[in-house]
Amino acid sequence: MPWNFDDIKTQLTADQSAVADAKSLEAFRIKYLGRSGLLQKIYDSMKTLPPDQKPLVGKEANVLRQSLESFVNDRKNVLESSTIKPAGFFDPTMPGVAFPVGHQHLLTQTMDEICEIFQQMGFSIHEGPEKETEFNNFTALNIPDNHPSRDGFDTFYLNEPDPSEKGVHCLLRSHTSPGQIRIMQQFQPPLAVVIPGKVYRPDAVDASHSFMFHQIEGLLVDKDVKFSDLKGLVEMFLKKFFGPEIRMRFRPHYFPFTEPSAEVDISWQEGKKDWLEIMGCGMVHPNVFKAVGYPDGKYTGLAFGLGVERIAMLRHRINDIRYFYQNDTRFLEQF
Ligand code: PHE
Repeated sequence: MPWNFDDIKTQLTADQSAVADAKSLEAFRIKYLGRSGLLQKIYDSMKTLPPDQKPLVGKEANVLRQSLESFVNDRKNVLESSTIKPAGFFDPTMPGVAFPVGHQHLLTQTMDEICEIFQQMGFSIHEGPEKETEFNNFTALNIPDNHPSRDGFDTFYLNEPDPSEKGVHCLLRSHTSPGQIRIMQQFQPPLAVVIPGKVYRPDAVDASHSFMFHQIEGLLVDKDVKFSDLKGLVEMFLKKFFGPEIRMRFRPHYFPFTEPSAEVDISWQEGKKDWLEIMGCGMVHPNVFKAVGYPDGKYTGLAFGLGVERIAMLRHRINDIRYFYQNDTRFLEQF
């Protein structure tokens, strides 16, 4: 017999165990089943074999072909199906899925930044309720009964009586100034607080008005607090927040709860006349001290209130207040 089939099988077994992937399988197939592979060589050799050996070699060759073909097919199937990943398969080479990362809303960022500047100057942060009493929102702040801001067109009244019985209704606070009253009812001077929060006014919504917006109230009470302290404090804050080049002016104004009162305007460009109003402020009115039961003439104080949306709009050149509340990610992503 010109072929030693036992040796061939030994070699075959070794070659089969070396098949690990599609490439080595193909090399194996070519070596044994290819056009000039071993099997073909065996068949070719049969032409010259003595007639008595032909059936034996032919039989062995057929067995060999069958086993080769089933090995190649089986292995091919296994290799192909193993590329379909079983459930739970984790491929560390796959590119990751990026989840969008959120961040704080611009208004929250702005309020935090403002509060932090005042904290660095020794102020502490307090918050008051959005549902207030008529007494805290108006009466204690020296706002007379016939003042237009008490009108239903300027304040959201609630169908709930003022529990202090010093006013008729509860309401949604129309400014953060009632926070001053709450602080002074609770603490004795010296005190320095900022009160951030939401306020409500029944304004028709447009590019510069909203029925809800944010304010930060400031209050400092001690013996001998002067208007110059107010000016210095406001100047320091504005320079820290807007940068040292910011220009400002105090314009006389009227608030029932401060005397004297002023509005503060800012401007960026030297020589330009476009002043932008940024906050109200003044020295705490003696009637306010009286309303919270502070001794007559013992203390003086300064107070201010700033609109957070306004400040953020000026700083970031945002021209419509409604962007703050629409939660459009194209807007939010910019800040
Ligand atoms: N409460 C005033 C307003 O909403 C702002 C203000 C606060 C003015 C404190 C003076 C002192 O317009």
